[in-house]
Amino acid sequence: MVQFVTPDIAVDIGTNNTRVYVKNKGIVVNEPSIVIVRGDNSKRIIAIGDSAEEMIGRAAADVRVVHPLRDGVIVDYEMAQVMLHYFVSKAIGSRYFFRPRMVVTMPGKVSKVERRAVINAMEHIGTRQIFVVEQAFAAALGTGLPVYDPQGSFVVDIGAGTTEVALVSMGGIVLSHSIRVAGNKIDEAISGYLKKQHAILVTDRVAEQLKMDIADVRADKNPEHIAVVRGRDIATGMPLTVDVNMARVSEAIADPLKEILAAIKWVLGRIPPEFAADILQNGIFLTGGSAALPSLDAMIATEFGVPVSVARDAGECTTLGAGYMADHFDMLGGAGRDNG
Ligand SMILES: Nc1ncnc2c1ncn2[C@@H]1O[C@H](COP(=O)(O)OP(=O)(O)OP(=O)(O)O)[C@@H](O)[C@H]1O
Ligand SMILES: [Mg+2]
Repeated sequence: MVQFVTPDIAVDIGTNNTRVYVKNKGIVVNEPSIVIVRGDNSKRIIAIGDSAEEMIGRAAADVRVVHPLRDGVIVDYEMAQVMLHYFVSKAIGSRYFFRPRMVVTMPGKVSKVERRAVINAMEHIGTRQIFVVEQAFAAALGTGLPVYDPQGSFVVDIGAGTTEVALVSMGGIVLSHSIRVAGNKIDEAISGYLKKQHAILVTDRVAEQLKMDIADVRADKNPEHIAVVRGRDIATGMPLTVDVNMARVSEAIADPLKEILAAIKWVLGRIPPEFAADILQNGIFLTGGSAALPSLDAMIATEFGVPVSVARDAGECTTLGAGYMADHFDMLGGAGRDNG
């Protein structure tokens, strides 16, 4: 049977991971936001998403790894379009008859040009109607917080490129702040520390893995916990292995963490009095892949004296929230209004 009805979808375009939700089905695509192209200027696509990730480090020298997004926004328009087209086609089949309606996530603070780039890319892929939702609102909704009630909910979505902090109530954002500091800046702090302290250059993946291993030091409370790190010597480019003290790595990420705390403080300090009691009672909810950062919840709770919970399936909350909106597309912003 030929399917004439194209399902509504939600596309959560993340700096490191893009996820596509199909109405009444759930998340059907969850792949890294990367494209591998031929190294010459032909821009010939070799791989996208999961298959691109598998090739990293193993691919021939004449290929280039492209990250079409940086800090939550599109920086390579052409590649972003190709990548998004691939993910959407994968989610709903490339031979759809009618262009789908889409809910698309975006960081809270983007320029008109950055916003336009996302909408243009989606229109180019083929969409009947676009509804743009701020990531923080989608995250709160996907966490299962009572976002349509008159009470206040406080969410902090810490992804790879941006941290979105928001007070949400009655179906909208009351107050929010968005900074371009999240998991990737934490990885960069680790790479920077290794470069400075150990004269070693490591891949993004090595830095990211060290970040996840910080949990071990904190759990062991063993200040002498040592990790063996492989990379290249800064001066000679030759392969190099060094022993790294994990306690120092844990200290090296203090700066980006401070910026995240400052963003939370900014919003907390401006909460209208009528919502203060809700936040003190219900606390702060953390979403996004970086919510899993060891001890981050405890650090935030100690700093501000409010309860902090990491959402279930924290990495998927924004997509699930946007997906819920796709499930109810006709009810968005009144009679199917296009807010793109
Ligand atoms: N166990 C973990 N501990 C710490 N960080 C983690 C863990 N698992 C994943 N991360 C980090 O989460 C980030 C990816 O999260 P997510 O998929 O929410 O980002 P994104 O949606 O691509 O980015 P953004 O929404 O900021 O554009 C990466 O920086 C990754 O290193
Ligand atoms: Mg995200």
